[in-house]
Amino acid sequence: MTEATKAGLEGIVAGKTSISTVGKEGLDLTYRGYSIHDLAKKATFEEVIFLLLHGELPTLTQLNEFIDQLISLRSLPPELQTVLKLIPKDTNPMDVLRTGCSMLGTLEPEKSSNLQLTIAKRLLAIMPSMLLFWYQYHMGKGSIETSSESEKTIAAHILHLLYGHPASPSQIRALDVALILHAEHEFNASTFTCRVITSTLSDFYSAITGGICALRGPLHGGADEAAMEQISQFQSAEEAEAGIKSMLTKKEKIMGFGHRVYKYGDPRSDIIKEWAKKLSDEPSKKNLFSIAERIEEVMFREKHLYPNLDFYSALTYHFLGIPTFLFTPLFVISRTSGWCAHIFEQRANNRLIRPIAEYVGPLPKPFIPIEERN
Ligand code: CMC
Repeated sequence: MTEATKAGLEGIVAGKTSISTVGKEGLDLTYRGYSIHDLAKKATFEEVIFLLLHGELPTLTQLNEFIDQLISLRSLPPELQTVLKLIPKDTNPMDVLRTGCSMLGTLEPEKSSNLQLTIAKRLLAIMPSMLLFWYQYHMGKGSIETSSESEKTIAAHILHLLYGHPASPSQIRALDVALILHAEHEFNASTFTCRVITSTLSDFYSAITGGICALRGPLHGGADEAAMEQISQFQSAEEAEAGIKSMLTKKEKIMGFGHRVYKYGDPRSDIIKEWAKKLSDEPSKKNLFSIAERIEEVMFREKHLYPNLDFYSALTYHFLGIPTFLFTPLFVISRTSGWCAHIFEQRANNRLIRPIAEYVGPLPKPFIPIEERN
């Protein structure tokens, strides 16, 4: 196999970006030049969205205006509400967002009068509404009001819609940080999908819908849900140690570990682990946290593999009382900000993305008419 045809395009530079740095030697992960550590400590998710979309951090006035715009874009059109009600209760919620995004594209299609920035903001504001409207409707809560202005931030809005009452400041900040950490990550599979779709001059909604489809799989965004299922099958750290070793012997993958680019640790993992630890304030949560830590130890000892963002994010979401099957949709809500920035960047300097393949099929053969084939 030649360098250019390395399986999974590992290590292949597939384009240029000025949005984030992933795995660059000597450089921390940055969004538009700002360290992920600073952003996770000092910024809010809304500031990060603004940064990704505009390339610069907002001033206070710009941020307040931006938040007000996002709040005003939360409401679900009646046709979309009807579709969300029709989607079956046992549907994977990633399919709800995929369908909801696609449906919105038919109701509010991209036109020259409809600027891409407006669509980006609309999608970021409405996705939590779509997800929680569908979820609560099928939980028997009826048609919940998703356009309330009582919560200013996306994290607070999501938790309020989920809990049915306001969340505490530390719960809101934990989700806010998780959203910041998931927002952008260069040419990952879903972002690259968005860019490929964009490069054909397709519309904004098609690109985002494609991103959702790519994020759904357990080797990408779906790893957080798979990780939670693995962590919660163990009752104690000792059981986890034995269980993980046995899975490794059987060559099974431990979800939430390993990364295509970060071979010596994911810089986002320690940040979210700290939040999982802060939220593990009850005995049952402490036990789950110690199970997770033991899995981390075993994975390092046995395989020299580090947790990626998904591992401790799963625990953080679980401690926030978020049902496991909503974890990956939260990733969508966050990553939409990065996807939008990449769509803007691709469009600003577009050339069709169309690589070539190394042909490994049969040599030319004579065509045999059907009546002569046995
Ligand atoms: N558990 C056990 N073994 C692993 C794992 C794991 N999680 N990850 C990698 N390995 C082993 C793998 O079996 C292989 O071993 P060997 O050389 O003996 O066959 C070696 O490490 C290389 O693995 P790979 O799958 O070829 O590596 P990759 O660069 O193609 O895969 C990965 C990266 C993220 C797909 C992989 O590490 C994996 O499947 N991890 C579990 C799923 C996961 O956590 N995905 C989230 C990725 S990060 C966030 C995101 O993108 O959403």
